[in-house]
Amino acid sequence: MIELPKDITPFVLVGDVIERLKDIPAKSINVIVTSPPYWGQRDYETKGQIGNEKTPEEYINKMLEVADELKRVLTDDGVYFLNIGDKYADKNLQMIPFRLAIEMQKRGWAIRNVLIWRKTNPMPSSIKDRFSNVYEPIFLFVKNPENYLTPDYYFDLDSVRIAHKTNGDGNHKSDLPLTLSIEEYDKLKDKISGNGNNYSGKFKSTNKINLGASPGARLSVFGEFYSRQRKNKIDANLELEIIKFIKEYRKKRGISTKEIDKLFGYKDTAGHWFRTDKGGRCLPKPEDWFKLKKILGIKEGKYDKIMIEEHYVLQTVKPHELGKNPGDVWDFATGKLQDAHFAIFPEELPKRAIVSCCPKSGIVLDPFVGSGTTLKVAKELNRKSIGIELQKNFLKIIEKRCGMIKVL
Ligand SMILES: C[S@@+](CC[C@H](N)C(=O)[O-])C[C@H]1O[C@@H](n2cnc3c(N)ncnc32)[C@H](O)[C@@H]1O
Repeated sequence: MIELPKDITPFVLVGDVIERLKDIPAKSINVIVTSPPYWGQRDYETKGQIGNEKTPEEYINKMLEVADELKRVLTDDGVYFLNIGDKYADKNLQMIPFRLAIEMQKRGWAIRNVLIWRKTNPMPSSIKDRFSNVYEPIFLFVKNPENYLTPDYYFDLDSVRIAHKTNGDGNHKSDLPLTLSIEEYDKLKDKISGNGNNYSGKFKSTNKINLGASPGARLSVFGEFYSRQRKNKIDANLELEIIKFIKEYRKKRGISTKEIDKLFGYKDTAGHWFRTDKGGRCLPKPEDWFKLKKILGIKEGKYDKIMIEEHYVLQTVKPHELGKNPGDVWDFATGKLQDAHFAIFPEELPKRAIVSCCPKSGIVLDPFVGSGTTLKVAKELNRKSIGIELQKNFLKIIEKRCGMIKVL
């Protein structure tokens, strides 16, 4: 096993990806960004190179072997960005990226996005019998632990938001704050246009069904309104802690969830309050907390504040102050590099991946590092990084682009 980087000097492990991944400690990498050799695309003239397999199936199997090893080195809240191109065989698009992605799903990866990298400077094409190809997919995978419907992983959207073209979509001119305390809301509530009772727009005579789809329509039909919600964010760990806490009391009391449901006048609700699996569990509502505590004989108040504190949240969609979500179509020009005789990443691609998914103290890995674009960008972003590359002669290019590197 290698010792992990302690500063932002990029590490380069030379050799075969599967062999070298075995040298990286388990659960040590926060984000993986890579573009492997595509199937049947290029011959790097090196023994052991990926991409020269006889069939797409063989290639996919190889890439699955890589994925298994990547899964081992990735932290449980880590993210894997895989940029991978396709190939025609006998005029038939092989769908290799998607077949690989589906196989990865079966092996415990969850797909959070299929991002489209639209090339803003595509190669001129002489193709006459189909449309030219101007995009490549980038899959955003996370680990998908059993029993988790929604995987928890590191994702900092605010750091990659992009400027609104106009003032949002021009729908919302309100100066109302996004959240209000209960007291503030009570003071303001007569001034909030509310629930649409005073609506006099063009849909007045309709039954208002299906008008809620666009933020603009919602605003003009319903006016501005707030919804009352729990104030404190309860993450998955805390949720489980609280559930275990009340479960213990329920055991001591020897009361069934059916009996609890009855006392609340609910049907099939209390059962979920005591489930520990992520798909089925849910916490009691703030207004049910004290009653439940009484039923279970809980005197301690340690979760009271977090369970019952509420505030009001503006429901009208307002343009986010930090800009909008970049969406899943990414417009970047292709990368160019004189020294490299293969396609390199545009720097913006690993940049967006690293900024959004790598904590400041985290480690970035590119298992097919090529000319070192990912390492260069990671260093510029003050992140630690590791690259793997089969070809020793690329070290010079990597060094030229990254400054000092540590070869292992
Ligand atoms: C498409 S290039 C990566 C380009 C990179 N994103 C960049 O911006 O420079 C793929 C790289 O994978 C390397 N490679 C191929 N087979 C490999 C293997 N079995 N183990 C490690 N690296 C391999 C190739 O030598 C090549 O440098």
